[in-house]
Amino acid sequence: MEKILITGGAGFIGSHTVVELTKAGYSPVIVDDFSNSNQSAIRGIESIIKQSVKVYEGDCNDAQFMNDLFVAEQNITGVIHFAAYKAVGESVEKPLQYYQNNVGSLMVLLDVMKKNGVENVVFSSSCTVYGEPDQLPVTEKSPIKPAESPYGNTKQVCEEILEDVIKSDADYKAIALRYFNPIGAHPSSHIGELPLGVPNNLIPFVTQTAAGHREQLTIFGDEYDTPDGTCVRDYIHVVDLAKAHVKALQHFKNQNTPYYDVFNIGTGKGNSVLEVVKTFEKVSEQKLKYKIGDKRTGDVEQVFGDVEKANNELHWKAALTLEDALRDAWNWQKKLK
Ligand code: UFG
Repeated sequence: MEKILITGGAGFIGSHTVVELTKAGYSPVIVDDFSNSNQSAIRGIESIIKQSVKVYEGDCNDAQFMNDLFVAEQNITGVIHFAAYKAVGESVEKPLQYYQNNVGSLMVLLDVMKKNGVENVVFSSSCTVYGEPDQLPVTEKSPIKPAESPYGNTKQVCEEILEDVIKSDADYKAIALRYFNPIGAHPSSHIGELPLGVPNNLIPFVTQTAAGHREQLTIFGDEYDTPDGTCVRDYIHVVDLAKAHVKALQHFKNQNTPYYDVFNIGTGKGNSVLEVVKTFEKVSEQKLKYKIGDKRTGDVEQVFGDVEKANNELHWKAALTLEDALRDAWNWQKKLK
C-alpha cells in the first residue's frame, strides 16, 4: 500500500480526502497542528474507515519535525498539502502569519521531500487566483488576477513557487488543484466542517442559522449583475473534491519528472446565493431566516469553472449535486446540534 502524507488531514477537505484515499487502497498518514481542526475529526475518519489512522501532531513549518516524520515513516510516496490558514478577512489583519504559515510550510515541505527522495505533491489552490473573471466559465488558461487578500496571494505565490522549483529541479511532480467552493459533509455525518466562531462561509452560516445558533443569514448584496442579483459560485461537494485528490495521485503514475500542472476542481455550474438558500429550504424542509445586506468587500460577482481538463486528464468528474451537498451539510449540523 502506498503511503501518502496528508498535511492538514484533520481539516474539512483533508479529513474527507483521508477517507477517500483509504477507500482507494492508499495508506494515509496525517500531520496536523490542530490549530483550526479538532481531534474529533480523527475519530470521525476512523468510524468511517473502520480502522485507525496514523496522526502526527505538529507544525508543517518546523523543518526538523517534518524531516523526522519523513525519516520515521520511511517510504512515503506522495504528499497532499492542505495545511494552511484560510480566512480571507483574517489574512488582511495578519498578513505575516498567513505568508509565514501558507508559503513557509510549502517551502519546508518541498525541501524535506527532496531530502527524503519524495517526488509527488498535490497542492490545495483556489479559484481565488482568477479574481473577478473576464469570461465565464474560467479555464486554467484564464488570466491570474492580482489577489484581493494576503490569503489569495499565498495561493498565487505557492503556485509560482511550485512552478519555479519544478522548472529548476527534475525530481518533482506537482499538481495544483484550484478548488471552487467546497461544501457539504460526509454522508455518514461522521465528518464535516467545524468552523471556529462565527462562520465566514455561506453554508456553515446557513446550517447554523437553521439550527438556531444564528439569528438570521445576511445575504451580501442583491444588486449584482447576475440572474437574481446575488453572487454566483461553483459549489462542489467535499466528497467529490476529495476524490479529485485520489485521481491526481493516480495521474502522477503516467507522468515523468519534472511535471507540474494545474486543474480546476468544480462542478462547472454556477449557483446564486438565493438558489442555495431555496435549495437548502427544500432539503431541510424548513424556512430559513434571511435578510439582504450590503455587499461584502472583496467578493467577486460570479465565478464558476470549466472542468473539462480535470474530466479528460484526471478522469474525474463531480457526481454529487447541490442538493446532496446541502442535505449532507444539514445532517452534519443536526448531529453537531
Ligand atoms: N455569503 C453571504 N452571506 C454570508 C456568507 C457568504 O451572502 O454570511 C455569500 C458571499 O457573498 C458569496 C457566497 O455567499 O457570494 C459564498 O461565500 P463564501 O464565503 O462561502 O465563499 P467565497 O466564494 O467568498 O470564498 C471562496 C473561497 C475562499 C476564497 C474566496 C475568494 O472559500 O477560499 O472564494 O473570493 F478565498
